[in-house]
Amino acid sequence: MIVDVIDHYDRLIDEGQDPVNDSLELQAYMNKWDGETFIKLLELDKSKKVLEIGCGTGRLAVRVASHVHSFYGIDASPKTIEIAKSNLYEFHVELICDDFLAYQFAEQFDLIYSSLTFMHIQNKRSAIEKVYNCLTKNGICVLSLDKNQNSIPDYGTRQVRIYPDDPEEIMSIFLKCGFCEIEKYEIDHAYLIKAKRK
Ligand SMILES: C[S@@+](CC[C@H](N)C(=O)[O-])C[C@H]1O[C@@H](n2cnc3c(N)ncnc32)[C@H](O)[C@@H]1O
Repeated sequence: MIVDVIDHYDRLIDEGQDPVNDSLELQAYMNKWDGETFIKLLELDKSKKVLEIGCGTGRLAVRVASHVHSFYGIDASPKTIEIAKSNLYEFHVELICDDFLAYQFAEQFDLIYSSLTFMHIQNKRSAIEKVYNCLTKNGICVLSLDKNQNSIPDYGTRQVRIYPDDPEEIMSIFLKCGFCEIEKYEIDHAYLIKAKRK
């Protein structure tokens, strides 16, 4: 049975999944998508206003929020964002439950990053154009793109359709949208793309 993205992530919460509270072993495994190399690329500092697209329950936010001026996370799954609110309570972050493509942001960000989420977005061009419009001049975007190109991964009781990310295609879209200094890095399970808004 193929279920939609929100349904899938809401069900993961019902099933007790919260990566913030994973064992150290599992956390180390997740670092294969966005460990130290990814965090360094974010160039975190106390002056930055930061947005995470698809923040989940806050797995990366707990490592980022205290190192920046202000942190915003958006996630389309209502049950996921509720857990994120509780996990991130002490950090005073802004958490938004909506589709990144649909939400009208009232502010711009110095850094926008996302891990393991772009695969759920079909229209990559619209998403990257939106990132451009949400960034300040010279703002940066860092994406972690899963190397797994299986378009209908099986989660046991259900399947979720994904729209795999070709790193070369994503880099070319960044260029077309007006980004510069576009760089690609390869880590264990992901390609990392970093781009700067002109
Ligand atoms: C694989 S999880 C990754 C969560 C988090 N980035 C992490 O690595 O722990 C993907 C998340 O993206 C969210 N998501 C998918 N499409 C989205 C969209 N268009 N706008 C906002 N969130 C989205 C899902 O609800 C889910 O929580």
